[in-house]
Amino acid sequence: MCSHPAAYLTQIPYNYFVALNNFELSFGARRRLGYELIDLINNYFESLPLRPVQAPSEHRSFEPLRDEMPEAGILEQGAVPSGMNGTSPDKLAAFLRETVEEMINRGFHVGSGNYFGLMNPTPTYAGVLAETLVAALNPQLATTGRSQLATKIEAETIRWIGERFNWQPPFDGTFTSGGNEANFSALAMALATHFPAAIEDGVASIGAQPMVYASSESHHSLDKSVGLLGLGRKALRRVPLNEAWAMDVKALQQAIAADRHAGYKPFCVVATAGTTNSGLIDDIPAIADVCQHEGLWLHLDGAYGAAVAFSDTHRHLVSGIEHCDSVTIDPHKWLAAPFVAGVVLTRHPAAMQTAFGVTTPYMPKAVPGVPPDNFKVSMQWTRRMNSMKLWLTLKMHGRLGYQAFIDSQMEQARNFVRWVESSEHFELATPQVLPILNLRLKLAGSGDQLMRAHVDLVEQVTRDGRFWISETRVGGHSVIRVMIVSYLTGASQIESLQEAMLASVPVPALQGHRAACR
Ligand SMILES: Cc1ncc(COP(=O)(O)O)c(C=O)c1O
Repeated sequence: MCSHPAAYLTQIPYNYFVALNNFELSFGARRRLGYELIDLINNYFESLPLRPVQAPSEHRSFEPLRDEMPEAGILEQGAVPSGMNGTSPDKLAAFLRETVEEMINRGFHVGSGNYFGLMNPTPTYAGVLAETLVAALNPQLATTGRSQLATKIEAETIRWIGERFNWQPPFDGTFTSGGNEANFSALAMALATHFPAAIEDGVASIGAQPMVYASSESHHSLDKSVGLLGLGRKALRRVPLNEAWAMDVKALQQAIAADRHAGYKPFCVVATAGTTNSGLIDDIPAIADVCQHEGLWLHLDGAYGAAVAFSDTHRHLVSGIEHCDSVTIDPHKWLAAPFVAGVVLTRHPAAMQTAFGVTTPYMPKAVPGVPPDNFKVSMQWTRRMNSMKLWLTLKMHGRLGYQAFIDSQMEQARNFVRWVESSEHFELATPQVLPILNLRLKLAGSGDQLMRAHVDLVEQVTRDGRFWISETRVGGHSVIRVMIVSYLTGASQIESLQEAMLASVPVPALQGHRAACR
């Protein structure tokens, strides 16, 4: 597949190969290579619904590549073809084709309709186009004055997201490299708001240990963040889960009280909407009450799950989001933007400048009435335009496109639950809230035996490369994790996965004993 240039490519007659100056290519060359690539991408997209996620295990290699850095590039290696009638294969286009085919044939395809893995989407095609456009225009978003429409598009996209959270103005936000940076930024804003002197004088000036609270299932980006903010990783207090597998709010209150008693300074609680393992959502309204009572900043890590607010049918799952001081949402998860696109929003726009504002002589002075420059509200300086892929997808498909996508995945997940409930071999290990399922084998034996059986089953299901699912631990217990993540996944991919899972059930499970997991 992917190997024959379309007929119109042969009609580009002149100098299509010529490099004019340094990296400058001729009009014809740019066009030739661009069409070549878009055809290859188009063919790839056509293959995605049923494409195996990766090569069979016996063909996977993790050997590093060992080529020398090229001294002369393809262009300098006599690439100008003698016959310029366009019918002879040109070297650069052939090289591009080979590279793409190599990437595809030896790649791992999170975009496949058979990928039931982590929160990695099949990118929207609008997103792919947006990425190309952004790379070509290369807007520099550090300042407003030098990015103009690009910054306005970012601001508009942020406003659209905040409006889906039912936030009233003023609120603001910024695109980030992902959820990690968004969570870090939110904690930096919370810290700067509670302890403004620490911005200049450092956290030692606070005089006591500042503390952050999040559930035991919250994302490890929080550990990194508190560490990098200079609070020490122990500043993150992991609150246990309750019977509903969400943060135990009573335990949260007790932890805050105990820390205050010990002389620590609680300043922030992080609730999660869509835990990485299980897609579970903390009780946001109850945690918001605690934060209000205790005077703490409430951040919602909705890197995955906050996107549910794009569906009128399901936005109630994140009700309480309107009370959060800040929210992380990653368009490169459920909103199917190509990597990377994270967003942090806050209902306290001034906090962004408190945390990130700097002045330098070589950047333009702030102009009254003009929004703050992006470099003053974000960790980043040079800024890529990460909003374009979401903005363009929304322009092309509308918010209703996302609603239909989210609602259909929720329906697929509920159907999957019904299949599990009627299965002799599997049972649900945690409740299904979003389209992530945690299953376990109905298998007699200790936790370790169950874990080994799960690992074996996952190994068996993923061996031929067609599907991808994983084994993980939730609350210390092994589960098989299946996530419906691609907009290309339909009933047929799910049924095939279920068949593969049934064919991989280890023999002892057929005895059908229930293992007490919790
Ligand atoms: C709940 C949650 N928060 C934050 C992150 C970090 O996001 P990113 O990988 O975009 O940095 C993840 C990643 O999976 C996540 O699941």
